Amino acid sequence: MPDSLNRRDFLRVGAAGLAAGLAADALTQDAAPLRLAVIGTGGRGTGLLQVALSFGNVAVPALCDINEGNLNRAIGIVRNARGNEPVGYSAGPVDYRRMLQRDDIDAVLVATPMQLHGRMCIDSLGAGKHTLSEVAAAVTLDECWGLVRAEKESGKVYMLSENCCYYQQNMAVLNAAQAGVFGDFTYAECGYVHDCRSLAFHGDGTLTWRGELGRDYTGNVYPTHSLGPVAQWLGINRGDRFVSLVASATPQRSLERYAAQRFGADSPQAKIRFALGDSSTTLIRTAKGAVIDLRFDMYSARPHPSTTYFTLQGVTASYQDTGRQHEIWVEGRTPKYEWEPFAPYATEYEHALWKEHGQEAAQSGHGGADYFVIQQFIEAVVAGRPSPIPAADAAAWSSIIPLSAASIRAGGAPQEVPDFTEGKWRA
Ligand SMILES: NC(=O)c1ccc[n+]([C@@H]2O[C@H](COP(=O)([O-])OP(=O)(O)OC[C@H]3O[C@@H](n4cnc5c(N)ncnc54)[C@H](O)[C@@H]3O)[C@@H](O)[C@H]2O)c1
Repeated sequence: MPDSLNRRDFLRVGAAGLAAGLAADALTQDAAPLRLAVIGTGGRGTGLLQVALSFGNVAVPALCDINEGNLNRAIGIVRNARGNEPVGYSAGPVDYRRMLQRDDIDAVLVATPMQLHGRMCIDSLGAGKHTLSEVAAAVTLDECWGLVRAEKESGKVYMLSENCCYYQQNMAVLNAAQAGVFGDFTYAECGYVHDCRSLAFHGDGTLTWRGELGRDYTGNVYPTHSLGPVAQWLGINRGDRFVSLVASATPQRSLERYAAQRFGADSPQAKIRFALGDSSTTLIRTAKGAVIDLRFDMYSARPHPSTTYFTLQGVTASYQDTGRQHEIWVEGRTPKYEWEPFAPYATEYEHALWKEHGQEAAQSGHGGADYFVIQQFIEAVVAGRPSPIPAADAAAWSSIIPLSAASIRAGGAPQEVPDFTEGKWRA
């Protein structure tokens, strides 16, 4: 964003803008528009673009996608919503860099296949754009550090678009955790268990990016939906941090079986060897001694009421979200030594963001969480607030991808998790 816009908004919103609400109002009233571009206008990029367009004060001057059909669909969405024709960039895999040279773009949403996020976001920050990245942030440790450096050097907002952190329930647990209901944390269990076998192949049998991910990577390749909320509950990078992990994985069975069933036992698809096992577990230890049991399973045949589940254990309370039920037990409060429904606590500890914006949020996807990633990003940019999920968090959560793979390759050997805050976690 040009400095003039930052200054103007800062002066207008002023110190009072730090109160919740004023900065959000600034988005829909007479502030200069936030000029947003998108790289990757597939399913997710288009969905978040539509949420962004629901804010009156967002303009979209340019869009980029190598798939012209997807690009034109998104151009049409902007035309219908705003009446202008965004400039499209589709001339090959690095054409996004040409778009990043434009000086009429303040911010960029990156919603391409996740193998590309790290490089594209580093480039976007390097070009002086505020950057919102879809999950995961990166797939290598070099990219994780690159994001931390690029955020620092650019002085721009970087945010990981981890919508699971904004689920109403998860934010209420965050509030309860921060209010001390759980006492010291000892253990958390969480997982992403989602049968994505059908998403590995296009209709013509070629691999989607998800299929390529399964062919080329091992370990937990999609950690942030489950780990992000837990990391926030435990205060990771704000008083505690991940220090090490060990991981173990099953062999690949179910996706290869699925390929043979869907395309035929003699088909080229049935001969593809996928590196990613059906299921993996990563045990992460924190500096304060808490343990997180993180499961990942994208291929097992298994119905799923919800793609994520969570447990949080402290010395004075225990919470579990099985995907079907949310329950809690609190020492000195729960009448019997039994689980009780979390619903009354969800009301008592409802997060301020949900109290204030719950109605608008309810219109958006993923239970309203998609509204908040866009609203929080825009608010950080316009009001000059710190990113709610900055590069150090995004890097710590995403570093589980290369580190879990390294542990699995080394027979479960422990791997150190770098301190991406460079000492600031002790705050
Ligand atoms: N937070 C969530 O709930 C959620 C849900 C779905 C997907 N996602 C994330 O969003 C991202 C995109 O997923 P999707 O389901 O939209 O996939 P998709 O395949 O529908 O969209 C990806 C788009 O990126 C484009 N693309 C690929 N390479 C490109 C390049 N070099 N330059 C420009 N465009 C390029 C593709 O053509 C495609 O249109 C993934 O990282 C995924 O993890 C997040």
